[in-house]
Amino acid sequence: MGNKNYKGLMVREAVENQFTQAIEELSTEALPAGDVLIKVLFSSLNYKDMLSANGNRGVTKKYPHTPGIDAAGIVEESSAKDFNPGDEVIVTSYDLGMNTSGGLGQYIRVPSSWVVRKPAGLSLRESMIFGTAGFTAALSILRLVEFGMNPEDEILVTGASGGVGSIAVSILSHTGYSITALNSPNDESEFLKKIGAKHVIEPSDFIDTSGRPLLKERWNKCVDTLGGDALSSAIRSTSGYGAVTCCGNVISPDLKLTVFPFILRGVTLYGIDSQNCPMPRRQKTWDMIAGQWKFPWMENLSKEIPLKSVSHAMEEIKAGSHRGRTVVNLWD
Ligand SMILES: NC(=O)c1ccc[n+]([C@@H]2O[C@H](COP(=O)([O-])OP(=O)(O)OC[C@H]3O[C@@H](n4cnc5c(N)ncnc54)[C@H](OP(=O)(O)O)[C@@H]3O)[C@@H](O)[C@H]2O)c1
Repeated sequence: MGNKNYKGLMVREAVENQFTQAIEELSTEALPAGDVLIKVLFSSLNYKDMLSANGNRGVTKKYPHTPGIDAAGIVEESSAKDFNPGDEVIVTSYDLGMNTSGGLGQYIRVPSSWVVRKPAGLSLRESMIFGTAGFTAALSILRLVEFGMNPEDEILVTGASGGVGSIAVSILSHTGYSITALNSPNDESEFLKKIGAKHVIEPSDFIDTSGRPLLKERWNKCVDTLGGDALSSAIRSTSGYGAVTCCGNVISPDLKLTVFPFILRGVTLYGIDSQNCPMPRRQKTWDMIAGQWKFPWMENLSKEIPLKSVSHAMEEIKAGSHRGRTVVNLWD
């Protein structure tokens, strides 16, 4: 089929290590090889997108480049047997938006092995309210569900007002669990209560740097997004035969611990990697998001912006002043 012209955010290295962002007229001819061409209707913004848009070589090695690790849209062309033109699909992570032209352009071309069939019960736009952050929250909760959850479990969520944390609190409170949310340094307690946290605790009452190998048992499960001393405190205060998930390093990638939470309390620590999550688990997690985990206040966690406002929103992410989930409407 013929090439199409489209609009996308293009990041260029104008001078060595100086990057510019602009909306440019692009052609599908220049997209990488892949067996599925997708017309992207919605994307969403993540910290990684900001890094890619600002020349971070740990995320994107080669420029010019279109960022966007999340995309939801409609199959335009496919030579893959599993997908046909018109199918509604979601693509998050793998290499999308890193070194493969990403969801902040109106078209992407990707291998069909990266493509998730959008489940019924979730619109394309709603799938991007979740995006990689929501998918990561859901992967964390799926691990805990598989481990074994009891209705009386007390569950700690750290980084609770952030993208991953707020969706974890929302899914867990919507499904009936009692949540303790760790407040952020900028007091978000009102917001956390609104999305269903039963208790809100302050970092100063939680983060323990004393080096004690075990702390008082306070909860049985934890979704951690912060890493560092927060994750260490969470593991040391999880009760016997409980479980903790680890997905982030907002505070630090370091983890100071002894083996005692594991060998004296039988605590289990799960790593969460959304990027290379195998496809059957990926599809199962999206099916859960579209089904019993779809919480009714989802719209309140997000705002929608057009492509032309993305650079401004990236600046907010960079400055740490960005709140909630931002959905990008590629055709607005
Ligand atoms: N493993 C994976 O596949 C995967 C996927 C997605 C994301 N991640 C990682 O998961 C982490 C969370 O991502 P996100 O999108 O939720 O980030 P986010 O939206 O920036 O949220 C971070 C949260 O942590 C809070 N916070 C920051 N410093 C804190 C401190 N010292 N004590 C207590 N709270 C603090 C922030 O509060 P303020 O807003 O008030 O500062 C915010 O609520 C990141 O490290 C990200 O890279 C991993």
